[in-house]
Amino acid sequence: MKRLAIAVLISGRGTNLQALIDACADPDFPASIACVISNRPDAHGLQRARNANIPTRVVNHKEYETREAFEEALDEAVREFDVGLVCLAGFMRILTPAFVNRWRDRMINIHPSLLPAFRGLHTHERVIEAGVRITGCTVHYVTPEMDDGPIIIQAAVPVREDDSAEELAERVLMMEHKIYPEAVRLVALGKVRVAGTKVATEDAVFADNNLINPVAE
Ligand code: GAR
Repeated sequence: MKRLAIAVLISGRGTNLQALIDACADPDFPASIACVISNRPDAHGLQRARNANIPTRVVNHKEYETREAFEEALDEAVREFDVGLVCLAGFMRILTPAFVNRWRDRMINIHPSLLPAFRGLHTHERVIEAGVRITGCTVHYVTPEMDDGPIIIQAAVPVREDDSAEELAERVLMMEHKIYPEAVRLVALGKVRVAGTKVATEDAVFADNNLINPVAE
């Protein structure tokens, strides 16, 4: 089986990266991580990659005068590895349309809400503030608008009456770790594809798949 080579872009602790590393450790998983790239030299996720013998690169945004120059270097770093998919996993730089379009339909992201609700930062605080009963997480293809783009998979997580943002974040994160590898698997197997503003799935991809809209206990 030819595995899909992926690049994982991170900015921080890298627990979603770890979920992908763990999934890829299974020889039957249809993707493998070719490189991990961080915009922050101190990102803990870099250590996770090194522990798994995955090549790492740092493209420090602070060393570039413009966003374009930073993205040029980022693009070069990704292209050094022959990857078919870029996975943003807690990568906290906004990407310009130029970069996004270069990787159009070949770049996915995970976001800790049920998009299109609660785009942007401080998601869990805003979820609690809004009093919604159900939140969750989303893996989607990246389009030029932030936290937007065709949705591959989502998981639902109930909000408890007395939840703090931290407690909620932790339960959502557990579901993130399930759906991100699943999304990569579906993309790698060619079972999902972008069709306009949505993702089209092969018939019955999700029918026998208990990860579609799973509800966390
Ligand atoms: C995750 O919760 C991810 O969904 C979020 O950052 C966290 C990264 O954690 N991403 C975004 O908010 C993107 N808009 P991790 O470094 O442990 O994977």
